Amino acid sequence: MDQNENDDNFMKIFKYYKSNKPKPSMENVLSVEDKNHVEKVVPLIGNSLSDNRTEFLGLKNFQSWQLYSFPGHPGLFLIRNPFTGIGQRYWIRKCLEEYPRKPNITNIDIEVVIDDWWRECYIDGTCNRQLLKKLRWTTLGYHHNWDTKVYSDNNRTTFPEDLAELSDVVASYLEYSGYKAEAAIVNYYHMKSTLSAHTDHSEVNLQAPLFSFSFGQSAIFLLGGQEKSTVPSAILVQSGDILIMSQQARVCYHAVPKILPAKSSPWDYDSKVLIDNEMPTFKYIKSPKNLISSLNCNTDDKIWSKYRDYVRESRINMNVRQVLNENQTNLADPVFIDK
Ligand code: SIN
Repeated sequence: MDQNENDDNFMKIFKYYKSNKPKPSMENVLSVEDKNHVEKVVPLIGNSLSDNRTEFLGLKNFQSWQLYSFPGHPGLFLIRNPFTGIGQRYWIRKCLEEYPRKPNITNIDIEVVIDDWWRECYIDGTCNRQLLKKLRWTTLGYHHNWDTKVYSDNNRTTFPEDLAELSDVVASYLEYSGYKAEAAIVNYYHMKSTLSAHTDHSEVNLQAPLFSFSFGQSAIFLLGGQEKSTVPSAILVQSGDILIMSQQARVCYHAVPKILPAKSSPWDYDSKVLIDNEMPTFKYIKSPKNLISSLNCNTDDKIWSKYRDYVRESRINMNVRQVLNENQTNLADPVFIDK
């Protein structure tokens, strides 16, 4: 193969998995549950100290988390669904009801600015499916500029406290010190959606890991190298999984060529009510009582049915980044590099 033919190796694999006719084989898709890929997906022992915030963020305790590495992709890790059923419900609902609200930015703004997309979808009691299907992304914190790919202090709003806290817990499990969630893109996929090959390089800080939380239907995630000539690996990502892209993997090409029907609906399991007797100390959440009631209200199946209907045919991905270096408070701050 000459260099020109090699250039499109990422694209070839993307097209292979995107295809519906013929359907791609799943044989080479790495799944942490499949014993056929033991050399390519390796279980690791994570931090087993406990963090008493987990339960209140809809997470199981650290002792039961399953962490995997991918020897072919240094810096890539997967935590296999550490969420409780009520936790999945909480985050799915947040992504639908709250995060697309103004002042956050969505893809719909270019057509019409809607203050509260989810409310608008159900404004007359029935579901406006056309509007429901229109949402493809919303941005939080430092708003990603899709044209310039440059963040700006003038285009920054408050990052959600709960998502900052969740990211902080994941960072503490992985023993990353000084991590701070400052920007997120929430992607909404329908069964035929894809996301083409790209790298994430707009952040000043490319040393900090990127956390990618997935809910709802499953996906094939491709991770290649720093050039499109590298043949990517295909990885199965399921509801509740957290992918961590750090070190080399942080700057590699990645894409989502296919959404797959989920084999189960973990958002429907173990939705037990939480009691607020012993509240932990939170770093970002100012009103823990509100957090508990927002978690608990999702145990009511009748209330939750609208959100369930959405994830039955969609996938949601919260892609969280640290933008600034540890010693910066905004982009105008000079960057000090330790020598
Ligand atoms: C992204 O790279 O922005 C999203 C990846 C995903 O949906 O898993």
